[in-house]
Amino acid sequence: MTLRISDKANLSVPRYTSYPTAPHFSGAVTAEIYKGWLQTLNPDEPLSLYLHVPFCKKMCWYCGCNTKVVARYDPVSDYADLLRQEISLLSNTLPGRFRISHIHWGGGTPTILSGDDFTSIMSLIAREFDYTENAERAIEIDPRTVDRQKIRTLAEADINRASLGIQDFSPRVQQAINRVQSYELTEEVVHTLRQAGIEKLNFDLMYGLPTQTVEDILRTVDLSHQLGPNRIALFGYAHVPWMKSHMKLIKDEDLPDTEARLQQSEWAAQRLLDLGYKQVGFDHFASVTDDMVLALEAGTLQRNFQGYTTDTATTLIGIGASSIGKSPMGYVQNSTPIHDYKAALEHGHFPVAKGIETTIDDDMRRQVIERLMCDLSVDLSAIAAKYDQELSYFSVELEALSEFEEEGLVILTNGKLSITPSGRQLVRVICALFDIYLDQGLARHSKAV
Ligand SMILES: C[S@@+](CC[C@H](N)C(=O)[O-])C[C@H]1O[C@@H](n2cnc3c(N)ncnc32)[C@H](O)[C@@H]1O
Repeated sequence: MTLRISDKANLSVPRYTSYPTAPHFSGAVTAEIYKGWLQTLNPDEPLSLYLHVPFCKKMCWYCGCNTKVVARYDPVSDYADLLRQEISLLSNTLPGRFRISHIHWGGGTPTILSGDDFTSIMSLIAREFDYTENAERAIEIDPRTVDRQKIRTLAEADINRASLGIQDFSPRVQQAINRVQSYELTEEVVHTLRQAGIEKLNFDLMYGLPTQTVEDILRTVDLSHQLGPNRIALFGYAHVPWMKSHMKLIKDEDLPDTEARLQQSEWAAQRLLDLGYKQVGFDHFASVTDDMVLALEAGTLQRNFQGYTTDTATTLIGIGASSIGKSPMGYVQNSTPIHDYKAALEHGHFPVAKGIETTIDDDMRRQVIERLMCDLSVDLSAIAAKYDQELSYFSVELEALSEFEEEGLVILTNGKLSITPSGRQLVRVICALFDIYLDQGLARHSKAV
């Protein structure tokens, strides 16, 4: 039976920030195995760091990230000590002094760290590592939680990119997601960041939120544009109340249905294009001179756990509870419960909970999925040939793609698969055809659109 486009959009598929995806990680990758992986890394190759801070002052009901609300600073201060311990363990294990090409602070709310804790962690990193020329040092910011002093501290610690959580400017939607954040406040934070010299700005917007309409998201896009960010991410709200119980505070009847989500995402994307942004992958938009557009044009854009990235490092080290890292050997994820994360570090071990050692088949499929997610096209023959295989290696997938081809969602010529403009929304569904783990029924995912 052939599925209509809206049925396909209703399918539950991963976001493909990795392949294999996190639900397929297992305890087979231990702290000892990970230590062995780190010791084989080449100091001539730059690394990236991702640092996770799983604390917020208030819970946003849509939040799908690993975080918890804290009223006092003590748990955050204890956690800052653990981050310092993990960084020292890492630098003592690596075989030499490495250069860093990207740092990304994510959360939760990383700016919940006091200025002193943030500065001391960034200084420790600068003591133990070198930076590549033009290294990116980015942080996620909840505009409601920073003041002038905190922004000055970030700038003094050499932060040069900030991602601001915005979501939607409509007060009605903001009430429905428990995140009230005025345009004026966001505007002030943007100006203060620029004054402090942090000029590369990303905005996070969302569609599919409770009570949200096409008008809301279009107004949010227009107001965001007035503030001149370099990049805008337009995320579809992933409603997974079976994983995040606070999402149950969002009423089902307030959520837009699949048709409405499709409309919101299509109209918002069109408005961003009309305003002159270039679409990158399926959920990012950037000004035409932005590095991300240049990476897209050069075919070097990559996908990692933060979404699309210009970072080309082959190894990303995850630091902090629940952080995920990748290396040429595979993926690894730290323990999520802070208690377990802390216990491992206190014993001098890497706080690894699980991971996956990737096979050659995984590598081939990862490349197919990454190119599709980034470029919306992939040369299947070329990837097969790199591994001494023929195009027929993907014969099962090619057969499944014929239905998409008949509907005009993809074009297949000489082993090259391209997603058409009408198929762009379904890129995750098309990637899922190449995912051999998906049928194993271990995970429930959010809607494709
Ligand atoms: C890791 S969060 C942290 C942002 C920062 N703490 C803040 O509150 O502004 C980064 C972004 O992920 C997006 N996000 C969070 N939960 C999501 C969900 N359930 N579905 C889709 N996007 C989500 C939001 O746009 C958010 O700004």
